[in-house]
Amino acid sequence: MFGTFTSVILTVSMTLLWGTAGIAAAILPYASTNRSLTRKRTFLLWVAGAALLLSAVWYVTIILQCIKSGWLFVEGTVKTLIPLTLIPQGYIALTVLPRLKGLRDSGEEPPAQAALQAAAQPSVSLSFYAAALASGLSAHSFVFAQPVLPGPAEIAQRFVLVTLLLLVPAIFARRRYLKVMRGEALRRSLAARLLNVISAGILTAIVAIVILVSHVLAGVQASKLPEASDMMNHDWIDEGGGAATRMSGGSDHHPSHHANHQADTVEVAALTGNITDPADVTFEIVAQKKKVALASGAVIDAWTYNGEIAPELRVKQGDIVEVKLINQDIESGVTIHWHGYNVPNAMDGVPGMTQNVVKPGQSFVYKFRAEQEGTYWFHSHQQAAEQVVKGLFGILIVEPEQETETYDEQVTVINHRWKTDQGYRKAFGSRDEWQWKQVQLGKTVKLRIINAHNLSEKYLLQGTDFRIASIDGVRIQDPQPLSDQTAFRLGSGGRYDVVFTMPDRPVFLKLGEARNESNPGIVFYTDSPPEKPVLQAESAMFDPSDYGQPVVNAVTAASQFDREFLMILGNEMGFYNGMFHFLWTINGEVYPRVPTFVVQEGDLVKTTFVNKSLAEHPMHLHGHHMTVLKKNGEKVNTPWLTDTLNVMPGESYEVAFVADNPGMWMDHCHNLDHAATGMVLHLMYDHVRPSYEVGTRSGNLPD
Ligand code: C2O
Ligand code: CU
Repeated sequence: MFGTFTSVILTVSMTLLWGTAGIAAAILPYASTNRSLTRKRTFLLWVAGAALLLSAVWYVTIILQCIKSGWLFVEGTVKTLIPLTLIPQGYIALTVLPRLKGLRDSGEEPPAQAALQAAAQPSVSLSFYAAALASGLSAHSFVFAQPVLPGPAEIAQRFVLVTLLLLVPAIFARRRYLKVMRGEALRRSLAARLLNVISAGILTAIVAIVILVSHVLAGVQASKLPEASDMMNHDWIDEGGGAATRMSGGSDHHPSHHANHQADTVEVAALTGNITDPADVTFEIVAQKKKVALASGAVIDAWTYNGEIAPELRVKQGDIVEVKLINQDIESGVTIHWHGYNVPNAMDGVPGMTQNVVKPGQSFVYKFRAEQEGTYWFHSHQQAAEQVVKGLFGILIVEPEQETETYDEQVTVINHRWKTDQGYRKAFGSRDEWQWKQVQLGKTVKLRIINAHNLSEKYLLQGTDFRIASIDGVRIQDPQPLSDQTAFRLGSGGRYDVVFTMPDRPVFLKLGEARNESNPGIVFYTDSPPEKPVLQAESAMFDPSDYGQPVVNAVTAASQFDREFLMILGNEMGFYNGMFHFLWTINGEVYPRVPTFVVQEGDLVKTTFVNKSLAEHPMHLHGHHMTVLKKNGEKVNTPWLTDTLNVMPGESYEVAFVADNPGMWMDHCHNLDHAATGMVLHLMYDHVRPSYEVGTRSGNLPD
């Protein structure tokens, strides 16, 4: 992000200038002649002036960033870093610089004792060093750990750090000062001065190393994941500013009320929904390892459902669906999570939260009523960053009870990136090359596009106007035609249904840039297939915030919310489960330290996403669809429903949902690599009790 980059440059330059000023101040009392004192003082004043100017520029950029992106983007910086830099700088500007300017040339040689004493005041050099350390810590924060939502402890921490690092310079400054006070001349030989500087440097470095090592050891320890946890840690909960819940002891938590407490709570395992009716449709899915060849011949060592790439389950809305999952040989165990499908909690397929992981030889039966129609997909939620990438996913299509529009052709396109024996290859299913499909003139075609890759993807559809009929399984009201120069983008896990009428010329669907030759695509043609696909770079990008008619929905930006949550997405260098990692954080923390969001059934809940980090994050909430209300602080023209909202760096969104599906639900980044190092939190209904445990003891590893 531009703001971060500017801040890094400015704070690094400030560190160098303030540090130079500190050294210049420390050698001021060494002046043996008036000329040298004046020269040293003038140099110091210039350097300090430049440093102050640069600091002012930095403050202005922060104000500008606040105006442009919003307070939430700068809050952490303003609360933790600005006081740290402003205090020493203010002291320098208000008291140190006037004192230095007042150092008069008395005409005597050597310089007057009073002038040397004033120059040797420890507060002079220490204030410059403090300014340098504060700027240095700010630069460090911008690169490694931007402060977000700082608590008092986090604010105090940096002050303590600066104070500790000033200890050695303070001892040296005081020694100099006492010497000058006693009227002794400071040592003047170059060697002696160098020795002095080197020993001060070495001692400070020792202090810094001790701090660093203890910080690392503490970080490694604190980041270790517990062997077992039910995620009911009462220290880390967030009630979104709403009414107190059982989790915070808001309701009765007195032991004598225990029976009572149990009576009005419900266990996750019991949240199956009403599935007493026999199933209308049943499937058996066997998780198994399989070598699979892509269309190009490249081979993947896949982990599959039923030995296939993206098997498709097609059911009718209203059906009771039963899916028996059998694990043949995936050692770490598997599950099926119905991505975006709002099943009852016990059917959500998250190991350790909604079921135990299915080990080899074991099975699990999912049974739910298919209430929502549309394009969905499913995948294993056990160590998903490994399992989904290797192929443990499939397609779920729920045909509407009553089809209002009919399509002559339906094509499901699920794109993924495979690791093959010939390197990484992107593909539609297993088709990693262009495919040709004949369609009669005037027929309507519906493409169900699913992005099963960890990153967002761009798609081009050229040769015809088209409409985006559904987003994440939810129909758009009155979608207007888009020109074939419009590209669209899907975040990881997201789905669009796209429809067009076959014209008398070929239509091309392509993943990624027009010029990128290696990506897959489909050519639709009527009579004679074109020799090769022809595509151009797009001239517009589809924007769901201004398309069709707004969803008819209970929530609007003006609604009264029962709870409001904030998710600031950031990045930092840190530890996860005892290992050093580049981390993607939520509110400055990674799982399990990200608080669980607690709601009560029926609550109207608002969540604000703010992406301060350097990457996009497709934020996925299980069990609910979110209505997007605002983007970058402005109301969107057409609020839309989504289960996976891609938040780009520098963007903010406000979304809302009704807490109408009790349970404990994951809310995480669907870049599964990010989730695997802790970009995960949980949404907990306060009357729900866990049934399972997460961790190495149970083998339930949901990320
Ligand atoms: Cu598609 Cu929690 O995931
Ligand atoms: Cu992410």
